[in-house]
Amino acid sequence: MGTPFTWRSVLGGLSAFCAIAQAQTPSPSPTSSTAPQFTMPPEANIAPAVIPNIKDPQAVDAQTVCPGYTASNVQQTASGFTASLILLGNACNVYGTDIDTLSLTVQYQRADRLHVAIVPTHISAENATHYIIPPGYLAEPEVGESNTVSDLEFSWTNYPSFGFEVTRISTKDVLFSTKGTKIVFENQFIEFKSGLPKNYNLYGLGESVHGFRLGNNYTKTYYAADAGATVDINIYGAHPFFLETRYFTEGPDGNLALVTSDETTPNSNYTSLSHGVFSRNAHGQDILMQEDSITYRAIGGSIDLYFFPGPSQPEVTKSYLTTVGLPAMQQYWTFGFHQCRWGYTSWAELEDVVNNHTHFDIPLETIWTDIDWMLRYRDFENNPVGFDDESSEGFIQRLHDGGRHYVPIIDSAIYIPNPSNADDAYPVFERGNEAGSFLTNPDGSLYVGAVWPGYTVFPDWLSEGTEQWWTDEMVRYHQITGYDGAWIDMSEISSFCVGSCGSNNLTLQPVHVPFALPGEPANPVLIYPEGFSKTNATEAASASAARASWSSTYPTISVTSSSYLRTTPTQDIRNGALAVAAISPNATHADGTLEYDIHNLWGHGILKATYNSLSTIFPGTRPFILGRSTFAGSGSYAAHWGGDNWSNWPSMIFSIPQALSMSLFGIPMFGVDTCGFADNTDMELCNRWMQLSAFFPFYRNHNILGAISQEAYRWSSVIDASKSAMAIRYQLLPYIYTLFHHAHTKGETVMRALAWEFPHDPSLASADRQFMLGPSILVIPVLEQGATSVNGVLPGLIEGEEVWYDWYNNTVVPVPTQANSTIPAPLGHIPVYVRGGSVLPLQQAGLTTRDARNSPWDILVALDKDGSADGNLYLDDGFSVTPNTTLYAEFKAQNRKLDTFIQHGGWVEENSLRNVTIWGVEQTKTIKFNGHPVPLKDVYFDGNKHTLVVSGFKISAWAGKSWSLEW
Ligand code: GLC
Repeated sequence: MGTPFTWRSVLGGLSAFCAIAQAQTPSPSPTSSTAPQFTMPPEANIAPAVIPNIKDPQAVDAQTVCPGYTASNVQQTASGFTASLILLGNACNVYGTDIDTLSLTVQYQRADRLHVAIVPTHISAENATHYIIPPGYLAEPEVGESNTVSDLEFSWTNYPSFGFEVTRISTKDVLFSTKGTKIVFENQFIEFKSGLPKNYNLYGLGESVHGFRLGNNYTKTYYAADAGATVDINIYGAHPFFLETRYFTEGPDGNLALVTSDETTPNSNYTSLSHGVFSRNAHGQDILMQEDSITYRAIGGSIDLYFFPGPSQPEVTKSYLTTVGLPAMQQYWTFGFHQCRWGYTSWAELEDVVNNHTHFDIPLETIWTDIDWMLRYRDFENNPVGFDDESSEGFIQRLHDGGRHYVPIIDSAIYIPNPSNADDAYPVFERGNEAGSFLTNPDGSLYVGAVWPGYTVFPDWLSEGTEQWWTDEMVRYHQITGYDGAWIDMSEISSFCVGSCGSNNLTLQPVHVPFALPGEPANPVLIYPEGFSKTNATEAASASAARASWSSTYPTISVTSSSYLRTTPTQDIRNGALAVAAISPNATHADGTLEYDIHNLWGHGILKATYNSLSTIFPGTRPFILGRSTFAGSGSYAAHWGGDNWSNWPSMIFSIPQALSMSLFGIPMFGVDTCGFADNTDMELCNRWMQLSAFFPFYRNHNILGAISQEAYRWSSVIDASKSAMAIRYQLLPYIYTLFHHAHTKGETVMRALAWEFPHDPSLASADRQFMLGPSILVIPVLEQGATSVNGVLPGLIEGEEVWYDWYNNTVVPVPTQANSTIPAPLGHIPVYVRGGSVLPLQQAGLTTRDARNSPWDILVALDKDGSADGNLYLDDGFSVTPNTTLYAEFKAQNRKLDTFIQHGGWVEENSLRNVTIWGVEQTKTIKFNGHPVPLKDVYFDGNKHTLVVSGFKISAWAGKSWSLEW
């Protein structure tokens, strides 16, 4: 996937040479101003190279030198016990100062949750945030009534030092054990380690770009950074939660035997058990997955573990999400298709993009703007050139009239004006500063970093007035431009320089960031996806000639250092110093808390604040927020996208494990920059990707400044491909909406891994090139350049127990003779299957979700091998936080009869039932609706395809109490 995408490495590294030149000779501003502009030197953006402690051969191994603890003073409590842990011998002070007395609390909080907490016994108000997450920032999980009935057992030993074990009582399986290892607890370093079975199946531990099954040779680093959707490094968010699945076979004695082999043949005779572990620590940390163990190494916080017994993924997910926060319910319209790019220059251009979609009959729900809308990249001020205040009103009115929506980007950093230039007023800053809303340096002066507008300050979510100031700005701007949702960016929180680089340089404002922006002359010519030279030989040749001429004009210089500083883990847990790609750890919050202690929570803070702002602007309406940096629980506030990916095939491949992990983290409203963000896309990649993303909950096409346009209508084949996949998506909207209702109310999973839906088949443990949308839809996308078919798995067929129907031709897919079948998938076709046993309520596709929602219903019944199926449907007004009226319907088909049970919560559904289609019907008798024969003219039966279609219904399907159809 190339080098990590930081705005330093991809743009900055290559443009460093020019940036130095510009620093000496002021160059014209890239913004709308024509005044000469100072460009920050690239040195501002470079921290000393450090060697991560875990990669340093000379680093001291805490396990060898530290003494561990011993437990005493055990006291039983209503739901567990407490104990003291005393340092066992001399302090090792290996990477900080050992804490000599710790308090252990073991609490069976719910039948499905065991809490194990180890914190220093003596915590003062001054140092509390070193160890405890500020409750005002992130509420502690509610305990409710304690419950000691649990399938988990906690046991401990003092030999050779304190260690504990969590066991699944019903199987005697040890799930987590620190026994035989040391617990190290220092003021800036915590380490503990658990054994794991051979070839374990671990999932989660994000945010990362990595295969779905994490493997046993991988280190996950946590320190939120603006590092692009780069493989295997710390990126935007922090979710220290994992799901582990263990497969068992039943031995002759009836006992379960753990499967530890990586090689398993498809077989449904296994049992699997899953459990989850959440480490509620927001500090920077490394989690090491090694051959037979997992090691946590954090630079602060405490040991704060939650164990969830499952015993299967749906239960683990439900337990976890009811602990950190159930996902937000989204408005109906947010499931429509979103078009975005960096580089739309005016309301008029946006309107053209909208009209082009209509012209080509491509559904479009929402048009987005990137930082182009802002005056000199400053939040909350429209650029009068192209995005003037007055025209925004008519533009938004026309969008809304057409059933469409508008979402602008809002950056996390706030421009700080030039104190020596009276014309550089920025009231947004002034008001925020007056309210004490910004982070400071330790000496109390403002912490000044740099983002798109130049030097910037950063909101402090621990300061009392900040949320109100933020809401006031959101409200004020909404009165000018009536946006429908907010896209919160750069929230890691990103800064393009190390430390408070602007503190003494404000008279240079507005400065240019220390690298060339995409499209500026010093930037590289963008490249095309792999395989472009095969499909577009002429253009590929001219692109590579342009690139060659660019590199002779702008020789690449690399800013590297051959010597590394060796430091403690407190400074180097990430691949580079903590202060790169984010503000520095010494940025200080109003109550004295250092950014060091809560860095991973900044992105969560802005989402919470923005949720409150949108709730003020749209009282009673579900806020729609797309956020970049997230923490455990952020799904209660926001949707998330995968960040800055590339227009290449690996980025598309990784989007699936990214999404499946977000399912585990409780952020089901997830999607990636479709067709790719950085670099140029091409027809083939965009064709495949527009089809794949149509089955992700959040569906948005987004593109970097300077890259070729990639709206679906740019290529005729992409128009067709997008329309065909969108037609399925829009028909499935009621199903997707219902899945979200279940996620929001019960913690169910929307996008699902095969391993979760088919827990008896270990051969699916790593499957991440295909996925399921809810329980019923299987998607097997083409992820390879030039392919015309795809190798896919139709789970369960080996045993003959599952029936899969091809969405496009309604027929049962023939049973494959091996696990992987080759499925024809020419360009423009994405294989989609309906799982036998499903009832899907469908509406008609439309150009907007409003059109689709106002169309007649079809009910699709796909029978399983026993002739049964079930499904359900949730309806409400599509936007209210607490809808006044709802409707819930359940469908059950068996013995050649479909029964519908309707619970009326007052919602009156006015769209009629057009037809009921049943797949898998062998033969029919008299078709009866509510016991009365249906006229033959309303019945169509295709005996070859085993498809029955019944129409002519005179009812709204939803008006009566319940109805039935017999065949
Ligand atoms: C960040 C965002 C990207 C956006 C760009 C410019 O890189 O991740 O989506 O286009 O900033 O605002």
